[in-house]
Amino acid sequence: MTKLISLWTAAALIGTTAGCERKVAAPIETTASEPLRALTGSVPAKATWSDLAVPPEPAVTPALLARGKQVYEQNCAACHGTNGDGQGLCSAFLIPRPRSFTQAHFRFRSTPSGHLPTDSDLFRTVSAGLAGTPMPPWRNRLSNADAWAVVEHVKTFSPRFTDPKEDRQTVVQSGAPPPRDPGTIATGKALYTKMGCFNCHGELGQGNGPSANSLTDDSGQHIQARDFTKPSGFKAGYATREIVRGFLTGFDGTPMPSYNELMSKEDSWKLAYYVETLVKTPVVPIARASQSFLEYEQLGAPDLRVTLTERAWKYDPPEIRVKRGQIVEITFEPTDNGLGAGHGFAISSYDEVAFINGAMVGVPKTVKFRADRAGRFTFYCATQCSTDKLHPLMNGTLIVEDAAPATASTH
Ligand code: HEC
Ligand code: HEC
Repeated sequence: MTKLISLWTAAALIGTTAGCERKVAAPIETTASEPLRALTGSVPAKATWSDLAVPPEPAVTPALLARGKQVYEQNCAACHGTNGDGQGLCSAFLIPRPRSFTQAHFRFRSTPSGHLPTDSDLFRTVSAGLAGTPMPPWRNRLSNADAWAVVEHVKTFSPRFTDPKEDRQTVVQSGAPPPRDPGTIATGKALYTKMGCFNCHGELGQGNGPSANSLTDDSGQHIQARDFTKPSGFKAGYATREIVRGFLTGFDGTPMPSYNELMSKEDSWKLAYYVETLVKTPVVPIARASQSFLEYEQLGAPDLRVTLTERAWKYDPPEIRVKRGQIVEITFEPTDNGLGAGHGFAISSYDEVAFINGAMVGVPKTVKFRADRAGRFTFYCATQCSTDKLHPLMNGTLIVEDAAPATASTH
């Protein structure tokens, strides 16, 4: 057993190294993160789902599976349910609903419509998260080894993953991109009409086509056809090749069809070029970019380390005081395990990067963020949703003081 574990640790270390390789954004990438660069200095274009470097998968051992179950129960069960049915304690509060893994319809894949995702696809989704949805990015919260372990646990919820008849190898290729010019964009526009995209996405791509109101997904909830005017709503990130992959693979479990059989690869690119013309430059400049675009590592060493705990379902300390501009690192360890799901930490209307889920006794979790906006903010338990029924008192105050010289501070 010891040997297995040490082999696994070695694989994990190799994994970590591979995961650090920076991939340079392909020139075809759009410049949606341009305003961001202006705000935050030298931030590279955000890597999208497909760019995510996937470290080698460790061997599936009993130890890995046991670890996967543990990681899942601490971090995922509150939303996805202990038995993977998507009915976790928090699920009723979330839009869209967490995925049911027992249904095994996966939207983010490199594989054809109706197929299961590859292991790497699942790793990517877990690491990168799904933009604009409650599904958080886990890459800075779980080690690569733990992310692989949890992927294996997710697979245990559907017997399809062990069925030898399932093809999980065939990957849909996107082909070479044609030039982006007025001619190819015009072809894309014609395809948009011919393929009936407007029925759901609307003539102007605002997600309000004639069928839009009647769309539901496999959770039985209404699903919004994507609004192409807002790049932030693209769940796998905003990049041409992500859009192309989406058409070709389809979003299983949703009304978004797969066009792999209906369109040439080249036409898919042309259609994507047209879709990208529907983006509206925000009228009001984005006041502040989300730090989830910043790599956790890029924030550097913290200026302030805060130890936070929970006692009798209250935060201790109830108030955290920092100065604007400080890099704050919060390590949170509760004294009880909630309803088995642990406790969390999130800052209301601040930044979604400052988010901890499922911290347990003996399993503290750490989060780091730049306090770049002055004011008073409420922090709350993200795991148990700080609802009236569960944790009405799990609320604290983050005070970010303007760094004016006259302002007294306790730190
Ligand atoms: C705060 C709630 C929440 C937590 C915690 C959470 N998820 Fe999710 N997850 C979601 C939601 C919501 C979706 C569906 C998003 C959408 O509609 O596309 C989702 C989707 C997914 C998908 C589906 C991807 C696909 O291709 O369709 C996977 C896989 C997944 N989550 C894995 C995990 C794992 C593993 C963890 C724990 C490490 C986790 N999630 C933690 C809310 C959560
Ligand atoms: C029957 C309705 C329907 C039709 C027809 C349809 N879509 Fe969609 N599309 C959807 C829905 C619903 C979603 C949202 C899926 C989700 O949020 O998980 C979506 C999502 C998308 C996305 C989002 C990708 C992302 O990463 O988030 C793109 C791009 C897209 N559709 C393009 C198209 C194009 C182009 C066509 C025509 C070739 C088309 N769709 C046809 C319903 C439709």
